[in-house]
Amino acid sequence: MQEIHIVDIRRLTEVIKSRYGYDFTNYAISSFKRRILRILELYRFNSVEALTKRINDDPAFFEEFVSEITVNVTEMFRDPSFWRILRDKVIPNILLNHKKVSIWHAGCSSGEEVYSMAILLKEMGILENARIIATDIDDEILERAKSGVYAMKNMEINEKNYVRFRGKNELNKYFEERNGLAYMDKSLVKGVSWRKHDLVNGIVFNKFDIVLCRNVMIYFNQNLQNDVLKKLHESLFKYGYLAIGSKESLIWCEIANKFIVVNNEEKIYKKIKE
Ligand SMILES: C[S@@+](CC[C@H](N)C(=O)[O-])C[C@H]1O[C@@H](n2cnc3c(N)ncnc32)[C@H](O)[C@@H]1O
Repeated sequence: MQEIHIVDIRRLTEVIKSRYGYDFTNYAISSFKRRILRILELYRFNSVEALTKRINDDPAFFEEFVSEITVNVTEMFRDPSFWRILRDKVIPNILLNHKKVSIWHAGCSSGEEVYSMAILLKEMGILENARIIATDIDDEILERAKSGVYAMKNMEINEKNYVRFRGKNELNKYFEERNGLAYMDKSLVKGVSWRKHDLVNGIVFNKFDIVLCRNVMIYFNQNLQNDVLKKLHESLFKYGYLAIGSKESLIWCEIANKFIVVNNEEKIYKKIKE
């Protein structure tokens, strides 16, 4: 296994920043290093320098690099009790004051989270009253999300999660199985707007009732988490809800006092101050 020096990583992130505008400088260093090592092996580069040169010279390869450097692991109804709280508490609360629910999935990966939301809303009878925007930094994964086609072997865990979520049907009502693939019912996401958006350099583009940014900031260092959390705060209406991953927290960050905890285990927060 190759050794990676921090100076080489710095050089790599500088080249990416000046050539493509993406800023990976504040990604958590240990997981970033692990991903770089994986890429070196996968593409048989003999040094970070060689990788840096290829990235600089080859924009198409850079897109592949983005897909490899980001972690895309996701599931439908991941953490089923989170989805139960959303259905039984958070969304009914929003509907007390708003006719429509606006939702931003920030870091939606291959879209399983978005399909989960659409199924939840459909079962509540309010899918037509929702405005959903799903974003990710990774073009390739967004294309996969848009296609709504998943390997059948992945549907097993999704089905288990759905049962624990206590959905109204069976998950297979929402997809068709063909040749080992699950083709999701596209009518679920016909109103979803899929967009490329970088949480690090991207603008605050709208206000929402719910922002889900789950298992994304875990790959950022604390400074970057702090900056991104400010953007997420700005993207919420007052009394809107922020959901982050179960292993993440906002307790220590600058804007912590602008939220109250709705559910500590599932990391659901409510914005109480501008
Ligand atoms: C582990 S997945 C989380 C998927 C889903 N939210 C979940 O919890 O199952 C993390 C996603 O964050 C995206 N991501 C990483 N850095 C990002 C950035 N700067 N802006 C937007 N998305 C980013 C990755 O491309 C990846 O799809």
